[in-house]
Amino acid sequence: MCGIVGYLGKGIAQDSLIDGLRRLEYRGYDSAGVAFHEGNAFSMTRETGRVKNLANLVKRKSSKSSLGIAHTRWATHGSVTVSNTHPHVSHDGKFVMVHNGVIENFGTFKRFLTNKGIKFSSETDSEVLCNLIAYHYSELPDGDDRFVDAIRQALPKCRGAYGVAVLCLDYPDTMIGARRGSPLVVGLGDDANFIASDASAFVGRAKEAVFLNDGELAILNGSDFRITNLEGQEAQAVALPVDQISEEVELGDFDSYMEKEIYEQPTALKNTLRGRFGDDGTTSKLGGLEGHDEVLRDLDRIIFVACGTARHACMVGEYLIERLARVPVEVEHASEFRYRNSPKAGKSLVIAVSQSGETLDTLEAVRESKTKGLLTLGITNVVGSSLARETDGGVYQRVGPEIGVASTKAFSSQVCLCAMLGLALGRMRDLSPMDGQSIVEALNQLPGLVAQVLQQGEQIRELAIKYSKAEHLLFLGRQSLYPVALEGALKLKEISYAHAEGYPAAELKHGPIALINPECPSVFIVEGSDLSAKTIANMQEVKARNGPVLAIAPHSVEIPEEAADDVFLLPDSHEVVRPILANLPLQLFAYHFARLRGLDVDKPRNLAKSVTVE
Ligand code: AGP
Repeated sequence: MCGIVGYLGKGIAQDSLIDGLRRLEYRGYDSAGVAFHEGNAFSMTRETGRVKNLANLVKRKSSKSSLGIAHTRWATHGSVTVSNTHPHVSHDGKFVMVHNGVIENFGTFKRFLTNKGIKFSSETDSEVLCNLIAYHYSELPDGDDRFVDAIRQALPKCRGAYGVAVLCLDYPDTMIGARRGSPLVVGLGDDANFIASDASAFVGRAKEAVFLNDGELAILNGSDFRITNLEGQEAQAVALPVDQISEEVELGDFDSYMEKEIYEQPTALKNTLRGRFGDDGTTSKLGGLEGHDEVLRDLDRIIFVACGTARHACMVGEYLIERLARVPVEVEHASEFRYRNSPKAGKSLVIAVSQSGETLDTLEAVRESKTKGLLTLGITNVVGSSLARETDGGVYQRVGPEIGVASTKAFSSQVCLCAMLGLALGRMRDLSPMDGQSIVEALNQLPGLVAQVLQQGEQIRELAIKYSKAEHLLFLGRQSLYPVALEGALKLKEISYAHAEGYPAAELKHGPIALINPECPSVFIVEGSDLSAKTIANMQEVKARNGPVLAIAPHSVEIPEEAADDVFLLPDSHEVVRPILANLPLQLFAYHFARLRGLDVDKPRNLAKSVTVE
């Protein structure tokens, strides 16, 4: 996904745009660019690499323009070069545009426009879209709406997703945004208005935010703005106070957002839990599910759809909800579910989980579910996100913006909410008040236990030092800790680039044990239940083949000395919170492992914080 920010106001656009790009850099950081309306021409500055590279160039040029657009790119079409960097300018110099998304049929337009004699300077679909708008503009008569009409003619022809901000040289006081499938939000301030892919771009500069829906346009003209659909009909603009959406994200004393977000999990989880338990202290009360009690009581099945870390959280949720509520649960890769045409069976509830609320595969899985008439609920961390707006109900994670590409606090809060959902559903069924009460107590103790584990961060750093030379690692766990093994492996590989795989511990003997050697450490997450003995036996099988073993285990589990080279002890805890606690050392292990390799844990190569393309 890419970052878009546009400025139209009384002041100078430059600083607001660069600052906005810095706040959006987590969305993509292959290259960045900015374009300003300078009266009789656009000035463009584009550079590969991080936003700071661009900022230095822009400062030297120091534009006085009060109208500009900017972009930080995560490459989809075309390699990482200056010529592929946005903004793109049309062949006639009349339009500049920034784009987030993928225009699937751009090849058709490129051939058509090439036959009209238009030459392209990049490999991108975005430059084609910019020239398609310019082409329609050239075919339209003069008039106030010629600019917006050119956009209204070009966009419906496009297949795929777009979030765009566009400027036209003939309209020095106008900026137009449009979205279909890629988020776009208008920021309204006293001195300037903004268009951005994420409200964090204009926090502190705008007072209100208006989120566009798919198929809508935002036309900003001077200090006025209007929202219409592609046919030009006025659409309702719902303005939300910006301070409710996203507080400014300062790094503080941490050296990375990932480290900050790992250590703020006690507070984050308190926010997730706050005010969400029933008065009798035996159940949870998730406001976003209100009004759906009848369906929730009578469910035949729950289908989770998610991607990446969010899917791992759902997999933990599967174990927890089935145990607490005895409702069958299945977890789907959203990208698979949306095409699988899964047969409807009984009363199903689809729960989509997405930190960003903008992951396209997850959104499309929700859309497919709604086409099939299924009730859809969302669990997301972003207020006003597409997921929040497109599901029938849902729950906000409330953990504050998660900037680090590697998801940490979001995972913990997603698992926590799954446990709370399991508790609520369980108490609607056979879960006793006493059991409900003990789960409520366990959840309320969770933030303190998380803080306790995080205090052992130095021990984890030492373990990361010990194993930091490994290029292949296995992560193994059973039951609700098997998804934690998957998550530990994902965390490590996505920020350190070492190869890591997660398996159910018992699966080791069915193939992966062939990988065991002195250079391939195995990280075992031990349950603390009657299954521990079996996992310890798996550890001994690895040790018998000279494989190094690092065990993560609750204090109460006795790990024989010969079964592990290193043991990291967790506080004993209720089974519903154990996966969250067990995942903490794996987050820190991956963090330190990557830092020891000198890597940027916040912006790992090839990744973006939210994948809004497919
Ligand atoms: C997690 O560390 C990754 N960055 C990635 O797997 C992420 O969880 C996935 O893309 C889903 O994102 P979402 O929660 O915003 O939908």
